[in-house]
Amino acid sequence: MNNQLDIQPFTQASSRHYDLLLTADPAKQLVDAYLKRSINFEANINGVLVGVLILIETRPETIEIVNIAVASTYQNQGIGSRLLNFATNWAKDRHYRVIEIGTGSTSFDQLYVYQKNGFRLVGIDQDFFTRNYTEPIIENKLVLKDMVRLRKYL
Ligand code: ACO
Ligand code: ACO
Repeated sequence: MNNQLDIQPFTQASSRHYDLLLTADPAKQLVDAYLKRSINFEANINGVLVGVLILIETRPETIEIVNIAVASTYQNQGIGSRLLNFATNWAKDRHYRVIEIGTGSTSFDQLYVYQKNGFRLVGIDQDFFTRNYTEPIIENKLVLKDMVRLRKYL
């Protein structure tokens, strides 16, 4: 099925994009803020939107994946890994040196996928989620407080 995965840029986020974006990041105002300056990709299978990938240049040689999401019925089929691989190759082709991603300390499945795809843990942004999100986030029966930062050298 993944052979039919088609990854293309998009500019204007539709409500279908938002449905996915908000599964990765529940704060719409934060999503809106980075969409103003991001490079956006969507993944489709036979015309059905199944994933989104949002990149931002955070420093001259660094690109960050600020949002990655796969529709729930399409998860665990390798699409997330394909999107991470796409982002890595896209950044390499444009001569970035580093690709980064941040996720919750309680996001065990995501930490697995990112490390499986070559990202290494480089730091903790303590209380990132309690500082930046008004609503408490509960994940894996834990209150999410800290962001784990991961990095891959290209
Ligand atoms: N326990 C163990 N392994 C698990 C579990 C689990 N509960 N759930 C999934 N997995 C494994 C799968 O078996 C698979 O591993 P495998 O390839 O070794 O079999 C792996 O996790 C999933 O890998 P993919 O299929 O490549 O990834 P997927 O298409 O599911 O996408 C993603 C991963 C993007 C994190 C997806 O789960 C998702 O959209 N989640 C909701 C939104 C989200 O959390 N986004 C990331 C937020 S952080 C950010 O955006 C910067
Ligand atoms: N997925 C999700 N949750 C799980 C899983 C799983 N695969 N396996 C266990 N859990 C949960 C349990 O449900 C329980 O959570 P809950 O209390 O919310 O229901 C929790 O994990 C386990 O908690 P406890 O029962 O309090 O801990 P336990 O008696 O199992 O001891 C320990 C934990 C010491 C880590 C034990 O698993 C162990 O000895 N592991 C092997 C040795 C080891 O890894 N030691 C730590 C190395 S680091 C160090 O020593 C400094």
